[in-house]
Amino acid sequence: MQISFAALDIPKTGVVVAGVIEDGVLPPTTKALDDQLGGLITRTLKGGRFRGKKDQSLMLLSPAGGGLDALLLVGLGKESALGALRSEALGSQIYAALAPHGHAEAYVALDALAGTPVDAAGLAASLGLGALLRAYRFDKYFTKLKDEEKPALGSLVIGTPEAARARTLFASMATTADAVAFTRDLVSEPGNVINPATLAEQARSLADLGVEVEVLSEKEMRKLGMNALLGVAQGSANEAKLVVLRWCGLGKPDAAAKKGKKGKRTADKGGDGEAGADSPLAFIGKGVTFDSGGISIKPAANMEDMKWDMAGAAAVVGVIRALAARKARVNAVGAIGLVENMPSGQAQRPGDVVTSLSGQTIEVINTDAEGRLVLADVLWYVKDRFKPKLMVDLATLTGAIIIALGHEHAGLFATDDELADRLTAAGAAVGEPLWRLPLGEAYDKQIKSDIADMKNVGNRSAGSITAAQFLKRFVEGTPWAHLDIAGVAWTTTDRETAPKGATGFGVRLLDRFVADNYEAR
Ligand code: BES
Ligand code: MN
Ligand code: ZN
Repeated sequence: MQISFAALDIPKTGVVVAGVIEDGVLPPTTKALDDQLGGLITRTLKGGRFRGKKDQSLMLLSPAGGGLDALLLVGLGKESALGALRSEALGSQIYAALAPHGHAEAYVALDALAGTPVDAAGLAASLGLGALLRAYRFDKYFTKLKDEEKPALGSLVIGTPEAARARTLFASMATTADAVAFTRDLVSEPGNVINPATLAEQARSLADLGVEVEVLSEKEMRKLGMNALLGVAQGSANEAKLVVLRWCGLGKPDAAAKKGKKGKRTADKGGDGEAGADSPLAFIGKGVTFDSGGISIKPAANMEDMKWDMAGAAAVVGVIRALAARKARVNAVGAIGLVENMPSGQAQRPGDVVTSLSGQTIEVINTDAEGRLVLADVLWYVKDRFKPKLMVDLATLTGAIIIALGHEHAGLFATDDELADRLTAAGAAVGEPLWRLPLGEAYDKQIKSDIADMKNVGNRSAGSITAAQFLKRFVEGTPWAHLDIAGVAWTTTDRETAPKGATGFGVRLLDRFVADNYEAR
């Protein structure tokens, strides 16, 4: 769908969307439309329940008294609450209300309003973003769609007194929205299409934007000693991959070192590590392209959902894509551990002991607690090789986080309060809310093993926390946060800015986190 911005106008034809403020107050353009239509809007407000509250809308088809094809009235709510997120929701609501009618184009008249927390240009741009995010579809596998089942709305024109500024603001939002759509596509693809090799190929496409892409094979990972990750992949016919994405918006740290600038080169195996001002931010993703549970196999009901057990990895690819696309002045590393968790004659057994890259040994009690095994090696690898400023991992890690937080917040765990606060603020700003849960040594007793340094599951209580506590053993002193996105990566109902399906959760959050806190200007 094409989003564009134009001067504020009082159209006489076509499909028009006009706002009504709570309690039936008409902004200037809506008032002018009302006059043009002989008081139709005023009469409508008198007679019915539509009062301009947020989330309300009312479609009037071929309204009498003019040449309009349709007039969609939307509730703006209270002006004081009409900020960026509300405006996104409005754009989404407008798209959803118009879509069933099959019009090809619509014009939204968005007046500047006194008392809104965001100015007219910001509101217009956010409205466009909301519509765009809601218009996402994953329909490539439908071969029999009738014309009337295909999306018709091809163009949304947003009329605003600040069209030029709105256009500029929207351009960068649209770049992020592209990255979100890319992530949603990856998450939506079934497990026979997206496997470790094909997901790595998709990640490779970021090279076109100037991202350095490395793909490590099983052989290379074995040489390094990543046996926790490899143990998970062992039962699958699809080889595991580790993808490392590097966006060096501040220039490469090792290039600076060669030129004799400050920052010492370390002698670790990767040879890239360097503690310095331009040390990277690191984002790590769980990329289980299908999680059958392995030998500890999952029940059949809803097992198909486990194609999206790579949503953390897809979000990492998405955020690196967003940073590169807007040439963010920051150094960032994305690392994703890609495996398929399958049962077979070669699969890892409950009771197996693996030696992780860190040297710590793990007793694998339950092969379905595989995400933490993958992340253990990727976290250690990234910490060791890149000496990052901080690490944030994203993972559809536990069903328990859905019991705790439902589908409204992702779980946040952090070793650093400032990092936790910055992530929480970024999430709130983009409508991807986080809720912090505790870490604490008291939980460690649950993962004590009789035979190895730790076991990979605790008991039934505090399942998300013991998982986080497990991960914490692989980050040493690096400031680290873990986002358990199992409840938010996929939605079974249409949401404000995500139609049902993959949400792309994490892309906008991390993009905002970087923009607000780490980008050189
Ligand atoms: N990928 C799942 C977590 C999950 C479950 C995400 C349901 C979304 C919906 C993860 O690998 C897993 O299986 N976790 C187990 C851990 C348990 C065995 C300790 C779980 O949550 O049941
Ligand atoms: Mn699992
Ligand atoms: Zn899993």
